[in-house]
Amino acid sequence: MEKKLNEVVVIDGVRTAFGKAGEKGIFWKTRADDLAVALLRALIQRNPKVLPDRIEDSIWGVTNQVKEQGGTLGRSVPMLADWGWEVPGCSIDRMCASGLTAIGFGVGYIATGMADCLLTGGVEHMGHVPMGFMRDPHPLSEAVMGGPSAFNMGMTAENIHARFPEFTREKADRYALSSQKKADSAIQAGKMKQMIVPVEVERADGTRVVIEKDQQPRPETSMESLAGLKSVFKENGQVTAGNASGLNDGAGAVVLMSEKKAEALGLEPKMRWVATAVAAVDPTIMGTAPVPATLKALDKAGLTMGDLGVIEINEAFAVQALYCLDRLGLGEEDPRVNIWGGSLAFGHPLAASGPRLVTFLMNLFKENADARYGLTTMCVGRGQGYSIIWENMQR
Ligand SMILES: CC(C)(COP(=O)(O)OP(=O)(O)OC[C@H]1O[C@@H](n2cnc3c(N)ncnc32)[C@H](O)[C@@H]1OP(=O)(O)O)[C@@H](O)C(=O)NCCC(=O)NCCS
Repeated sequence: MEKKLNEVVVIDGVRTAFGKAGEKGIFWKTRADDLAVALLRALIQRNPKVLPDRIEDSIWGVTNQVKEQGGTLGRSVPMLADWGWEVPGCSIDRMCASGLTAIGFGVGYIATGMADCLLTGGVEHMGHVPMGFMRDPHPLSEAVMGGPSAFNMGMTAENIHARFPEFTREKADRYALSSQKKADSAIQAGKMKQMIVPVEVERADGTRVVIEKDQQPRPETSMESLAGLKSVFKENGQVTAGNASGLNDGAGAVVLMSEKKAEALGLEPKMRWVATAVAAVDPTIMGTAPVPATLKALDKAGLTMGDLGVIEINEAFAVQALYCLDRLGLGEEDPRVNIWGGSLAFGHPLAASGPRLVTFLMNLFKENADARYGLTTMCVGRGQGYSIIWENMQR
């Protein structure tokens, strides 16, 4: 029996502001699941035709599924958002690409006819549930993954510097500065307002405040200030707090639908899924994996890098972004790449970053009508890359 795939479209994407992890963070007194709930409420308000009872599953990426992030967060957040008992849910872990994988799995679900309307998202409160918290790696893991550096993301970035010395500290700092400057221009131009859901939180002194701005960006960054920072993961290394993404708290969510359902409801979808690919590499240089993942996705789509008008690559570390851009044939200043800046400026609350990239792309497509196709791609701890190619429906 021959089966046809359904077209899958993005209806909307939102995120919270991204906070710094830790006691000085804007979300220190806010739970991860409450960040997700705020997005559910906003999505329904923004899209009156997307009713909770139309949502057939709530698929959430969460890297560390313990404490407030455990207990199948994807199932609990719809109930916490007062959507009732009828929305099923699950949680997915592919480390940094957990949220992008939630979207990718949601796409597959709809394409194969298992559902018509899904909520997908990602959340990480790195302040409450730090990276690696309560993990118990197998005694053989270091040996099979190429050594202890596979477990320290900063060291995987140092390894890229060491193995590919053409990507120097100066180039990494220049790239980080550019990310900060692009982010600042976008923030000043009000681009974040369309995607950030205001969240009311409690402050350390017990008073309440509405958070609607990212805490991580450092617009005052300069080459001089970056050059003055010491390496943090290795003595005399090249990875610093300035050319690494931060430790952050945040959430992002995306509504996916079959194109047929969107048409039936009279909705205006923002972009259409084209191809997804995941690939794996040596875990000690995990940041290089977006290259094979992207090449594989392009191959599936029958496209080339030249066909992509907007490119959203997660910046876990400047050096890995530089490596990927170079190996994908892009210059470090390619105008299609991270037009509004990236995770070096906004921060990287692991599972929340995938939905952030998709939400950025969705909004960038609106402003870049010439762009027919776009890419969202991320590297993942333990050596994976995840790429999704999308088609602009706002042209
Ligand atoms: C790199 C890392 C250890 C830095 O942590 P941190 O010390 O808490 O970072 P901070 O943001 O407080 O920065 C430390 C100092 O560096 C300096 N600094 C950071 N970014 C800077 C910038 N862009 N320009 C100038 N100075 C900067 C500041 O002096 C800052 O101190 P201040 O906040 O008092 O001004 C942490 O962000 C990290 O582990 N990042 C990687 C996360 C990761 O692995 N994610 C997964 C990816 S796969």
